[in-house]
Amino acid sequence: SVSSAFDFAPNLFPLSSTAQGYTALGAPSNPALDPSNALNGGSLEKIKSLTYLNGLSLVVGLIIGSGIFSSPSQVNRNAGSPGASLLVWVVAGILAWTGAASYAELGGAIPLNGGAQVYLSKIFGEWAGFLFTWSAVVVLKPGSAAIIAIIFGEYLVRAFVGTEAANSSAWLDKGVGLAGLVIVTLLNCISTKLGTRSADMFMILKFVALIGVTVIGIVVAATGFSYNGPANDDWKKKGWFEGTTTDVSNWAVALYAGLWAFDGWDNVNYVTGEFKNPQKDLPRVIHTSLPLVILCYIMANLAYFLVLPTELIESSNTVAVAFGHQVFGPIGSLILALFVSGSCFGALNATTFTSGRLVYAAGKEGYLPEIFGTIGLGKSHRAIRLHNLNANNKSRIPKRFIDWFADPDAGFFFTPIAAMVLNAALTAVYVFIGSFETLVTFYGVAGYTFYFLAVLGLIVLRVKEPELERPYKTWITTPIIFCCVSLFLLSRAVFAEPVQTLLVVAFMVVGLVIWFGWVGRRRGKEQGRFRRHGESDEKVGWKFWKRWRS
Ligand code: ARG
Repeated sequence: SVSSAFDFAPNLFPLSSTAQGYTALGAPSNPALDPSNALNGGSLEKIKSLTYLNGLSLVVGLIIGSGIFSSPSQVNRNAGSPGASLLVWVVAGILAWTGAASYAELGGAIPLNGGAQVYLSKIFGEWAGFLFTWSAVVVLKPGSAAIIAIIFGEYLVRAFVGTEAANSSAWLDKGVGLAGLVIVTLLNCISTKLGTRSADMFMILKFVALIGVTVIGIVVAATGFSYNGPANDDWKKKGWFEGTTTDVSNWAVALYAGLWAFDGWDNVNYVTGEFKNPQKDLPRVIHTSLPLVILCYIMANLAYFLVLPTELIESSNTVAVAFGHQVFGPIGSLILALFVSGSCFGALNATTFTSGRLVYAAGKEGYLPEIFGTIGLGKSHRAIRLHNLNANNKSRIPKRFIDWFADPDAGFFFTPIAAMVLNAALTAVYVFIGSFETLVTFYGVAGYTFYFLAVLGLIVLRVKEPELERPYKTWITTPIIFCCVSLFLLSRAVFAEPVQTLLVVAFMVVGLVIWFGWVGRRRGKEQGRFRRHGESDEKVGWKFWKRWRS
């Protein structure tokens, strides 16, 4: 007896079950679609959905954010001359590239979600991985996202309400920034595809903006024609290197500012486990995105120098808007402000996508309450309930609808929602309390400590496990260069920013106390259980590691 239209409907699509990855017996062949699996929290790493293009837009999308449109002033002020600034941009770019290439090797050898968390755990022991996770989840990720959100708000307010409002009302900027954060978080909770698709779109916008700036700069320099009179010719009068600083600390500060603009090159490493083909795609992503970004940044800086007077570049925190104003007048500043806020929005999207997954990995590891390591809306997840109904043949809803709704590739809410929400909440806190300056320095010191450790780990791993399969191997000089320069940067920070450095150290000490006093001890007990079953230490480590990672 047909009791409702819904009961009848599944028969309209008799092929849908096999076509969507189910076996003839009705059991899902794709583990991600297995409802019992999803009920256990599922695993994002079993859903291999990311491609080369997604990787590219995750990296480019985060790297090109606020930095190239606003840090040039800081670089310039400290380097002292246009030539020296360009040099700083080149060095920062190459440093980012060496770091990213090293991470590509690590990601190929250890193709799991979590980035430095898994590399440090494997190489130095789990305490190191925990320390990274602790810092990244609590400070690094939400802190940097907060900076981007604030700058997003500032530029949007600038575009629509005017420069005065943006400068005088920090709260308006922050409010708009928060709104952006909420939208981005929603997008990324709804579906993975939505998150990556918007990342792809914003990548194009960013390239358009930077190439536009470059072309305009060249045209203005060549024709001498712009809204506010002829272009800058300081560089003709003074030469490119006049006024270059001789103070090592100034170089270091300039380099930090440049590095902020290049930061985010580790973004794909957080989601390596979700790539269809990480071994091949990871190095490809790195070796296309970084040269492209470096080239764009150098060209954009050249354009700034060709068009704007040096004093203006040094004094303005919104170089790009000044550039637009110089060339096209008020309309120009409006358009540039819109582009910059769009670029920041894209960066916020790219960082939210991966931060959610980092928190999720931490939840699965047992570093955070279990709920943060689940996909979807937990046990009451609608899609999962639908699947269960379907499996029991009690579904009143067309199968095709269920397959579509709960398809992990395109489906809705198959995302680490709890983790995304935690990340957004922490980011909101930093948006409220943080100021750009304090956040950036803290970020630089803590962030580079871990980059340094992970890349050092690459060298250690080559010595310790020469036989380990490495689908991609960089030249050994790459990690060595990275380690030397980041060590220099970190040592300068100790002198230049003693208070901030102390804060970072204190924060890490707290992390270690949490590990050795609590989380790690619980973990030790778990491991003991394996040992009692007579496994060797070596095996216990690996088994344990694999169990927790899969
Ligand atoms: N490079 C970016 C910018 O210029 C900042 C990236 C921040 N890093 C991060 N992991 N969220 O805005």
